[in-house]
Amino acid sequence: MNKCISKALSIVLVIALLFSFPLGSQAAQVDESISRISVTFYGDSQTARGFCWYTPDKCGSDVMILNYYAESSDSSKVFSGTCSKFKGSYVHKVTVDSLAPGREYSYRVGDVANNSWSDIGTFRTDDGNNKFSFITIADVQASSNENFENASKVLAAAIETCPEAEFYSSLGDYVNDCTNDEWNWFFENFSFANMNMTHTPVAGNHDGNLKWNWFNNMFNLNAAENSQTLTGVYYSFDYGNAHFAVLNTNDMYPMSQQQINWLKNDMNTSDADWKIVMMHRALYSAGKNINKPDTIIMRSVLIPLMDELNIDVVLAGHDHMYMRTHQVEGDEVVENIEYTTEYYKGEEITFALNPEGTVNILPSTAGTKRYTVNENAVSPIPKCAATAFSTRDWGGCYTTIHIDDDKFIYKAYVLDDDTGETELVDRYAIKKAVGQNTVDPDYEELPTDLLSNLSANVGNFIAQFTKMIITYITKLLPELIIKSFR
Ligand SMILES: [Fe+2]
Repeated sequence: MNKCISKALSIVLVIALLFSFPLGSQAAQVDESISRISVTFYGDSQTARGFCWYTPDKCGSDVMILNYYAESSDSSKVFSGTCSKFKGSYVHKVTVDSLAPGREYSYRVGDVANNSWSDIGTFRTDDGNNKFSFITIADVQASSNENFENASKVLAAAIETCPEAEFYSSLGDYVNDCTNDEWNWFFENFSFANMNMTHTPVAGNHDGNLKWNWFNNMFNLNAAENSQTLTGVYYSFDYGNAHFAVLNTNDMYPMSQQQINWLKNDMNTSDADWKIVMMHRALYSAGKNINKPDTIIMRSVLIPLMDELNIDVVLAGHDHMYMRTHQVEGDEVVENIEYTTEYYKGEEITFALNPEGTVNILPSTAGTKRYTVNENAVSPIPKCAATAFSTRDWGGCYTTIHIDDDKFIYKAYVLDDDTGETELVDRYAIKKAVGQNTVDPDYEELPTDLLSNLSANVGNFIAQFTKMIITYITKLLPELIIKSFR
């Protein structure tokens, strides 16, 4: 209710500002050439946000928060940042870090010296309460304006399903060939969300794995200290009573020791109740990519790490089909889970009660490039899957996640291509004891710089490459031979 009142007051305030705010001696010029506007997490989700946008020409980099001072007639404040040239245009980045928790803000991006500004956008800061919702989509990966438009309808449907969502995440592969045209089409078609909701970008292999610096130049993200940002960005943030780590699975095959150490430091120094990882390449999927060497190497490294760090949920993309695992630990299904059924907001929901292990979610794709189920997915993936299906001849997929203190409630939907109707296709819920996670005061942070990790990287590569060969010879190859004789 408080959020509704806050939102209503913000709308009234913005309308008032539109009629009263003079922006110096003349009215604001709306600059139609400003493009690719996004609002992202940058550090503290209660007080800070990163802004990024593009202009064709070099100019100032300013964000005007229109209702910065809650109770003042002159309520705007301007924050400035940086401008640099990238692929023929100018990228602007501004970080705003003195916001109030739990407020709906309105803003414009532009150039204060020229009094030229974008249209007005909005975003909401985390109120710090243990109750919030968010949306995930994956793998838009379009290469035509039409397909970006189709994918944007999936996100619009998600927002309609979950209007209370406070942010949305796209789990990588925004684009197919990582060109200026494709990124323009993405931002043009998704501006309704990117301008009015905090976005959590995840770097996919199509977003600049082999085209350096693109992903980092599309968003203003608080990259982990010492991290390379050529192929993507890894970063983290708290929201409510959850801690989120966003990985860069393009970092190095499977992942640099710097990023592994960073993830360990990041999760081990958080006492949040819910620990959630977002990444692009999936640990559990049954699409065409699951048996590839990079995935096999990554699974052997990251599955034990998710167990060690007590990660509750992993959200991933890359394989363009739908999968949700059972609770898994050590690459095996956790047995003997207790369940409890309760009414929550008038709905009967069955919760896994304090389950061990991690649930892995792959929300198919919001795009139109959809894969069939790979019947030869390396074991034990078929056994670990609670549900796995293709949405190829069906529609784009999205998920909604609600965290309410001790409850995690997950739902997946498909937007039918033909009918335009949404259908609930999967649901899952966890209830766990909260306030139990503590931080070891003697925890010594691991080094995250390249030099300290150079020999570990070489050793890991040799060890994991050997493991991959052994996996092929002892596991995957026999399975393929047996299946070919069936
Ligand atoms: Fe991918």
